[in-house]
Amino acid sequence: MIIYSRNRRLRTNASIRALVQETVLTTNDLVMPIFVMEGVGKQEAISSMPGIFRRSIDLTVKECQELFSLGIKAVNLYMKVSEDLKDNTGKESWNPNGLMQNTIKAIKDAVPEMVIMPDVALDPYSIYGHDGIITKGKVDNDATNDALTKMSISLAQAGADIVAPSDMMDGRVAAIRAGLEESGFIDVGILSYAAKYASSFYGPFRNALDSAPKENTENPKDKKTYQMDFHNSREAMDEVLKDIAEGADIIMIKPGMPYLDIVAKIRQAIDLPIAVYNVSGEYAMLKAAAQNGWLDNDKAIMESLTCIKRAGADMIFTYAAKEAAILLNQ
Ligand code: PBG
Repeated sequence: MIIYSRNRRLRTNASIRALVQETVLTTNDLVMPIFVMEGVGKQEAISSMPGIFRRSIDLTVKECQELFSLGIKAVNLYMKVSEDLKDNTGKESWNPNGLMQNTIKAIKDAVPEMVIMPDVALDPYSIYGHDGIITKGKVDNDATNDALTKMSISLAQAGADIVAPSDMMDGRVAAIRAGLEESGFIDVGILSYAAKYASSFYGPFRNALDSAPKENTENPKDKKTYQMDFHNSREAMDEVLKDIAEGADIIMIKPGMPYLDIVAKIRQAIDLPIAVYNVSGEYAMLKAAAQNGWLDNDKAIMESLTCIKRAGADMIFTYAAKEAAILLNQ
């Protein structure tokens, strides 16, 4: 039988396969999310995210040194805020001596080349577990934008390179951009969570920070009035184009793996860098299967991250960043 075109010819051996490989993952693509808590010499495991810890600032700095030496050049920061500092204004988030600000300063001192991308949202600071201020039982968009702007300026003052608003308020990129410009932080970038869906895959993250919306209040029990409906795709494009028009430098799509159709579509439409968040629930699923011996941990991590890049991601926020970097360096 004569078959003129055989796709298998280019899969004959590993060297040929390497020659025709289209997507190659490197440590430059990885951003490590990090959970920080008060104290000294403290490290607590997060049960729903095997291998991930909350650490005090000193141990966080050590971890950042290790990450940088493995080739990871960016960290995304989340704070476990003590209950007595939570309220409905989020004011602790712009405390110049707050946990986030002190963490940024400490990392910058020790690893100046590490790109620091703190999360900007009020949920870890909110008594209600919402990303914004509650007014009359609703998440108050415009009041929240003022708070997020104060928070962003404070994080820039502490040394943040890129602020990462994950709150999904309307108009917050423009508000934050204006605030940063007026305060002289013209080089501090904005990575906006442009298309962030209301997702069940954030569960383990909310355990890690104790930041889930509170059930026993009159306030919304979920985040569906600000995060996107997962039934929608066109709306993601609208969100992304608006954030770009407002001055975003990088846009994020979140979650990752179940949403790669959105990533591929937006990749076709925009030339700005795209970040994709391989979220806590995706990580937890993989780890649970690997711990049961149902999946090969290392292979599943490399495949997942490479496929996220193949869909169009320029950078991937992933709890597997350190493990992936170790594998990539082998
Ligand atoms: C909060 C925030 C969340 C995540 C990042 N920032 C949770 C949420 O929106 O409820 C999720 C990250 C993850 O699940 O890994 N603004």
